[in-house]
Amino acid sequence: MLSIKHLRYVYPNGYEALNDINLTVEDGEVCAIIGRSGAGKSTLLRCINGLERGATGSLTIDGDDVLGASGDELRTIQRRVGFIWQEYNLIERLSVMNNVLSGRLGHRRSVGPLVYHFPAEDREIAVRSLERVSMLHRASHRADQLSGGEKQRVSIARALAQEPRVILADEPVASLDPELSEQVLADLARIARDEGVPTLINIHDVDLAVECCDRICAIAQGVVVYDGPPSGLTDDVLNRTYRFDREWKSFSRGVVPTAPPAAPPSIGSLAPAPTEAEPALAGGTR
Ligand SMILES: Nc1ncnc2c1ncn2[C@@H]1O[C@H](COP(=O)(O)OP(=O)(O)O)[C@@H](O)[C@H]1O
Ligand SMILES: [Mg+2]
Repeated sequence: MLSIKHLRYVYPNGYEALNDINLTVEDGEVCAIIGRSGAGKSTLLRCINGLERGATGSLTIDGDDVLGASGDELRTIQRRVGFIWQEYNLIERLSVMNNVLSGRLGHRRSVGPLVYHFPAEDREIAVRSLERVSMLHRASHRADQLSGGEKQRVSIARALAQEPRVILADEPVASLDPELSEQVLADLARIARDEGVPTLINIHDVDLAVECCDRICAIAQGVVVYDGPPSGLTDDVLNRTYRFDREWKSFSRGVVPTAPPAAPPSIGSLAPAPTEAEPALAGGTR
């Protein structure tokens, strides 16, 4: 479980990027983080895996304190935080298998000159991880031979190979076309649920977030303005998230399903016949 309480982060230049963030993500729960550019989404993920230091409040992964961790303790925590980037961050000239195996590097006691000689157990984990994303058939291909969707699947496999206790994905489908975005995000969410890993996904595409995630956390100017089920994303919430400094507008994007139209009245239950003073409107015409 990932637990965040009263998290505040101020950049060295004095800019307060996160203010009093409270968020608990259960095992297997997939939570989308939405918000305008600059809202603080990436800063939040970087605080969770300790890339930004100096945040205050409390931040724990399975009870382990991230904010108070020393260098060694932090490295131990980080090796089981799976991070998925928009631009994949694969090593292009290496094979798919070696890229996934690199997710095991943090688990090895020493990294000597034979960096890519991994024990059988690590290889089994890498094979299983590639199977989970349907990419085992590409294991021996170089990463630079893959399409964008395949690269992102490999980076999901690399995160899985870490045996993660939390998965953080920063705009993981922003470089993919709409069809692929949906497939890759749905796969990531399904795998996270199956593996029981709490997962945070920064995402710009609200419809996709609603479709694939269990929960939505909306951030504006470093503050959580909504945290709840996708069905609660009303126009008000979307305006607070995206248009807090602009005129209110109706998003009308079908994010919140409208109530189904009432069934037409059955014959016999129709209103009483109109009087002369209240003329009936002829069907559909005025
Ligand atoms: N290194 C930094 N120093 C100062 N301000 C920063 C730094 N990195 C990001 N910021 C600012 O923090 C805010 C949040 O940034 P970020 O977390 O990247 O937003 P998002 O991912 O939601 O687009 C932005 O206003 C950004 O300009
Ligand atoms: Mg960002």
